Amino acid sequence: MIDRMQAGRVPAKPHTVLRDADGHLNHEECLTRDGFDGPFTILYHRDRPHVAMPASAAHGWEIPSRSDDEPRPLARRHYRTQQLARRGGPPLDARVPLLFNDDVVLSALHPDEPDPVYFANGDADDLYFVLEGGGVLRSALGDVPFGPRDYLYVPRGLIHRLIPNDRPQSWFSIECPGGLWLPRQWRNEAGQLRMDAPYSHRDFRRPEFLGPRDEGLRDLVVKRAAAFHGFHYPHAPLDVIGWDGTVYPWAFPILNFQPRVGLTHLPPTVHGTFATRGALVCSFVPRPLDFHPQAIPCPYPHSSVGCDEVIFYAGGNFTSRKGVGVGSLSHHPAGIIHGPHPGAYEGSIGARATDELAVMLDTTHHLHATRDCRSVEDADYHASFA
Ligand SMILES: [Fe+2]
Repeated sequence: MIDRMQAGRVPAKPHTVLRDADGHLNHEECLTRDGFDGPFTILYHRDRPHVAMPASAAHGWEIPSRSDDEPRPLARRHYRTQQLARRGGPPLDARVPLLFNDDVVLSALHPDEPDPVYFANGDADDLYFVLEGGGVLRSALGDVPFGPRDYLYVPRGLIHRLIPNDRPQSWFSIECPGGLWLPRQWRNEAGQLRMDAPYSHRDFRRPEFLGPRDEGLRDLVVKRAAAFHGFHYPHAPLDVIGWDGTVYPWAFPILNFQPRVGLTHLPPTVHGTFATRGALVCSFVPRPLDFHPQAIPCPYPHSSVGCDEVIFYAGGNFTSRKGVGVGSLSHHPAGIIHGPHPGAYEGSIGARATDELAVMLDTTHHLHATRDCRSVEDADYHASFA
């Protein structure tokens, strides 16, 4: 939810007649959130949007279960997602959940073909971070092209499909059952992004609306209550002639995030980019470092007693950590103090800049690890801080 958009043809007033030149009456679909209290978008379909009938659901990914997480000692963990067995297939099948709780599911995807059906996630908003590759998100609201180092947001319930391009793909995803939004402190009272926010309205890539689309596809998979359900349409689901509202997909290049730098080290909250229930998503991007002559730019050891911290490493040399590479996922759980690797604290004194690039999450609740995640664990990680 960035701001209101309008594309194609809509009537002057919601819930009033919208006919084509030949007299054909179009049909509204109100896509609402939080019941009817939250943000919404109104779409105008050529055909009735609610005529899909149940069919088999031949697609979907494995839903993580807490019973798969074995009790383990509390420890700092490092998972090498680069070493995951690449599942391939369309994005709808390729998702491999790694860390999860009731608020977020963090997954890796290495898709190598387009979604052959439409998908609507009825459980959650999806936020992808594209490490490698790119492609197009196609929906009734338009196409959103995306590429390396882009975040890609797909709102809950939106019928869409993902069409990766021919390049190797490596995506990190965050499924957010509580919804995803921009942190409220970045808005003014009119809802506009403040002048001191770390991004502006112009930084978001919006859907390019191309009118009604018939790709010949009629099948839809809906995820709801942690299960996948199939439906079949008698017509093209993307038969939209216009829409307006604030619920739509977008892309945000992580390098458009404007970082802050202080006299001394600033806490991760200044990197806050997106918020969800029980988690803050932060962007660490290349930037100059602290400018006090005695500053220690490396993060101080800390006991953030209410948060698990997860970092997905996307590039550059991460100031505080050794032994991690592009595609690494570190998990520092609440309950134990964490901080830089040996030598990093002292070594950072006098440093003037960092080229690190990473996505970080602080989560309120403990994260569980799936079997796939544990299969790529770097077993020596906790001891590497000694
Ligand atoms: Fe930390």
